[in-house]
Amino acid sequence: MIESASNNQHGEPMKNIVMTISFVLCLGLGLPALSEDGATLFATRGCIGCHGAEGNAPVAPNYPKIGKQNKEYTINQLKAFKDKTRSNGMATLMAGMVIALTDEDIANLADYLATNTGAAQ
Ligand code: HEC
Repeated sequence: MIESASNNQHGEPMKNIVMTISFVLCLGLGLPALSEDGATLFATRGCIGCHGAEGNAPVAPNYPKIGKQNKEYTINQLKAFKDKTRSNGMATLMAGMVIALTDEDIANLADYLATNTGAAQ
């Protein structure tokens, strides 16, 4: 009896911790169950940290503007970073960024980057 009472005390926090960890893992791995739109991905996957608002306000002059880019081109580049066929220049900065992106994420990001308003140019 005493043991079960003490289990209950610890049960809830443990459950919360496990749920939190699962949630963070899902975000990190981009599991299909949590499919996000391109604008959300652009913020949650850290793209905005280097490419700036809507992809058109890069934080350094040698980082590219990627907003209002052709969708097909962006898809090809993201896949090329992922399979390492694009590895020249500063591509290593991108390699870690695309590793967890699914094909669906890539399509959603490319769609967003092709169709954003470009307001932040
Ligand atoms: C640490 C900074 C950084 C982050 C974060 C980052 N990028 Fe990049 N990105 C770069 C740099 C630098 C290049 C240029 C690479 C080169 O020299 O080939 C680049 C190139 C690109 C290109 C190719 C542009 C072109 O004209 O060919 C695309 C598309 C792109 N990034 C999309 C993204 C997306 C989507 C994310 C988020 C998943 C992201 N980037 C996150 C720094 C970053």
